Amino acid sequence: KIVDSFMQDVEKGGYPHYMLKEIMEQPYALAQTFSSLQTQDLSEVLKILENARRIYVVAAGTSYHASLLGAIAFRRFLGVDAEALISSEFRVVSRVVKWGDVVIGVSQSGETIDTLLALREARERGAKTVAIVNNPFSTIARESDYVVSMRAGPEIAVAATKTFTSQVLTLLYIIAKLAEKSSAINVDSKAMIHGIKMSYEIAEKALSVSQGKAMAVANKLFQKHSAYYLGRVFGVPIAMEGALKLKEIAYIHAEAYPAGESKHGPIALVDKDYPVIFIYIGFLDELIEGNIEEMKAREAWIATIAPENMVRGSIEKYSNVVIEMPRAPLETRLITYAIPLQLIAYYTATLKGLDPDKPRNLAKTVTVI
Ligand code: AGP
Repeated sequence: KIVDSFMQDVEKGGYPHYMLKEIMEQPYALAQTFSSLQTQDLSEVLKILENARRIYVVAAGTSYHASLLGAIAFRRFLGVDAEALISSEFRVVSRVVKWGDVVIGVSQSGETIDTLLALREARERGAKTVAIVNNPFSTIARESDYVVSMRAGPEIAVAATKTFTSQVLTLLYIIAKLAEKSSAINVDSKAMIHGIKMSYEIAEKALSVSQGKAMAVANKLFQKHSAYYLGRVFGVPIAMEGALKLKEIAYIHAEAYPAGESKHGPIALVDKDYPVIFIYIGFLDELIEGNIEEMKAREAWIATIAPENMVRGSIEKYSNVVIEMPRAPLETRLITYAIPLQLIAYYTATLKGLDPDKPRNLAKTVTVI
């Protein structure tokens, strides 16, 4: 037993939990993923995506949030028809999936049964399937037509952290490569690749600048039963990921939704000191300033994550805490914005005396329907 716990300490690299270790090693994981993508022959994957009638991205949990972000990027940067779907809901579209479509399955483990079944069904219907996985020897990798391997390193903690940022990096990298091949697209693919590459330096900075502020947010959240995570466009899947982390390991109800929806219902819950976390990316989401004002008018407690060069107006005036993210290109921001949210969830769980590596009711890999 003593030897076992000694070995675990060694594996945790001096960190109290695997989750913190994996959060902290994101700069390295992102660098690994980037260089591994550069060495893989993606030509066939790019070819089928280029000619796809429709692209579906299927996944569960955290991988679904990365897929949602990827689908927005496919539509926004390439103008192609892409949709993210929760794999257990794949049957919503399975009747319309056909030859000429491409279904991308995103899975850290490569073993999630719902994602495996969705990909199998897609293949039976004649679609081509692409697996984006961290484990290239997994069932999903073996059963797919093409495999893109992330090589982010093993992830032990139940809560996915470094694999989320690596998944976002991978999807954006594929999109940048597709942009490079198409003259019809008004996207500077070189600049995009540069932004993607910068993510590991910026992740390093983000980790060091956001720790204290994330702790301040956790100090508020750990006493609460419920919180909102709000963003717009690209900020929505990142908000969803932040909320999932808080639920999973701190057992606090957290809901993420597009900030413009507040007045259509959810704001009814907001009263004095209700925690609202805004994710402001600084791209297509300037209306968040108004959403911050409407929450402040209800005396909500507000934390905002924003680029350091865009902290102004109501972000500056009404946020109780602002987590200033390093100035960086858009792609870099999309990859690194989950980092402070992971830290917030981690610190909240530890303040509650919970073990973030062993959340109740959850398994790292879900292999049953
Ligand atoms: C993430 O924190 C969760 N533990 C969970 O949502 C996970 O992302 C999901 O089960 C999908 O797993 P996969 O990426 O291995 O397919």
